[in-house]
Amino acid sequence: MKYSGYAYVYTIGCQMNVYDSEKLALILSSYGFEKTDDLDKADIVVCNTCSIRHKAEEKAFSFLGRFAKIKKKKPHLITVMAGCVAQQEGKKAFERIPHLDIVLGTQAFSRFGKHIDAVKSGKLRVVDIEDSSMIYEAMPDSTCFDENKISRFVTIMQGCENFCTYCVVPYVRGRERSRDPEKIVEEITLLAESGVREVTLLGQNVNSYGQKEGRISFPQLLARINEIKGIHRIRFATSHPKDLSMDLIYAIRDLDKVCNHLHLPVQSGSNQVLKKMNRGYTREKYINRIYDLKKQCPDIALSTDMIVGFPSESKNDFYDTMNLLREIEFDSIFAFAYSNRSSAPAAKFPNQIDEKEKLDRLNQLLALQEQFTEKKNKDLVGKVLEVLVEGKSGKKRDGFEQIGKNLEQMTGRSESNKIVHFPSEHAKIGDRINIRIKDAYPHSLWGHPVGDCEYR
Ligand code: SAH
Ligand code: SF4
Ligand code: F3S
Repeated sequence: MKYSGYAYVYTIGCQMNVYDSEKLALILSSYGFEKTDDLDKADIVVCNTCSIRHKAEEKAFSFLGRFAKIKKKKPHLITVMAGCVAQQEGKKAFERIPHLDIVLGTQAFSRFGKHIDAVKSGKLRVVDIEDSSMIYEAMPDSTCFDENKISRFVTIMQGCENFCTYCVVPYVRGRERSRDPEKIVEEITLLAESGVREVTLLGQNVNSYGQKEGRISFPQLLARINEIKGIHRIRFATSHPKDLSMDLIYAIRDLDKVCNHLHLPVQSGSNQVLKKMNRGYTREKYINRIYDLKKQCPDIALSTDMIVGFPSESKNDFYDTMNLLREIEFDSIFAFAYSNRSSAPAAKFPNQIDEKEKLDRLNQLLALQEQFTEKKNKDLVGKVLEVLVEGKSGKKRDGFEQIGKNLEQMTGRSESNKIVHFPSEHAKIGDRINIRIKDAYPHSLWGHPVGDCEYR
């Protein structure tokens, strides 16, 4: 059916949720709803949710909870809980949010339109947490998405079967399934034709791409995407250390569009913790992989995820994690205090760590990393980095006005995924420009264009 009105889509969670929300927005648009950023105007509100940590889950409940009052004044307003919390909660979601109209699980997105029709024709409380084999091929093509973005996410596989003991993903995203490589190549080709210059391929463990289905391997997929005209950069996340192959290392080294950056979540530097997490590698194996990688790609930028305060993590285990940071010197890290998720096995592990202690460890870890992030950035001062321009910079710098009247402060990212601000007269979104770095801070670099630039 076709309706009229405005749709507001709010996204919490990972990059995959960003991709999924684009799909939900497209379905809404095909049903006649116009996208709005003004919540007051909305006739349908979708919250695409995340349950990875307690805080993310609470954010979803508090966002959706506030519509109880609004719906009294605006009874036609449809509210939708989509994604991982929806999948986890099912009809239990109504206990906390009685006014909710649709609970749309992670496998139910392709049936979203049908559920809107049902609600519009008077059905109350639709819940769909049924499984479906491959959700993406049944949804609209993301290339007709209207935003002029230079960089886009493309999900290449769904689900996860690694069952790390702290993690809800295998329970909320289902078993691992890889998309057909032809469909992925087709989608990225269309994205390139519509002006996209950078793609980030998404999967919970991209290294196992295609293995179950007997498709091409992930490095082979990268080689295929490397051939697509118009795409300048290829990124991917996430690589699981236990499956990082030499072939992938060679692909990063040899394929010119694959960025010189790897996100390789380590989670902990302690072997006893890694074992309890069911990560499938030891600290030594992780370090050896990094060594293999650096041998082939000496300048590679590295980032990681870490969890502190996992059940039974002793002070010494934590120091092992701190020492791993010192040993590897990551460019950046995402660190989290362990959050107890009732659907994950670690919820029942003995020796849960006190919340205050977890936060204290988290702060120590972040403070240590800050030094390395800044050091890594300072090492780049004087060097020339190729920057893919993303737009005008929100940041202004003291003294910038004196550089020149016609200059605009622009921003983009280096291949190593660092944010670079620079003044320029001509730079447009999508250009690749060589920038000489003049100043480095923990979270950004500042520089000036040099020599030849490539405009798109
Ligand atoms: N598939 C990816 C990561 C998915 S979740 C991988 O295996 O690396 C993103 C990050 O959230 C994880 O890397 C982990 O660091 C963190 N995370 C997952 N569950 C968590 C929990 N229960 N508490 C705290 N952090 C968690
Ligand atoms: Fe979660 Fe582990 Fe799967 Fe990553 S690999 S999504 S941490 S279960
Ligand atoms: Fe969160 Fe689901 Fe992603 S739990 S991290 S939105 S896969």
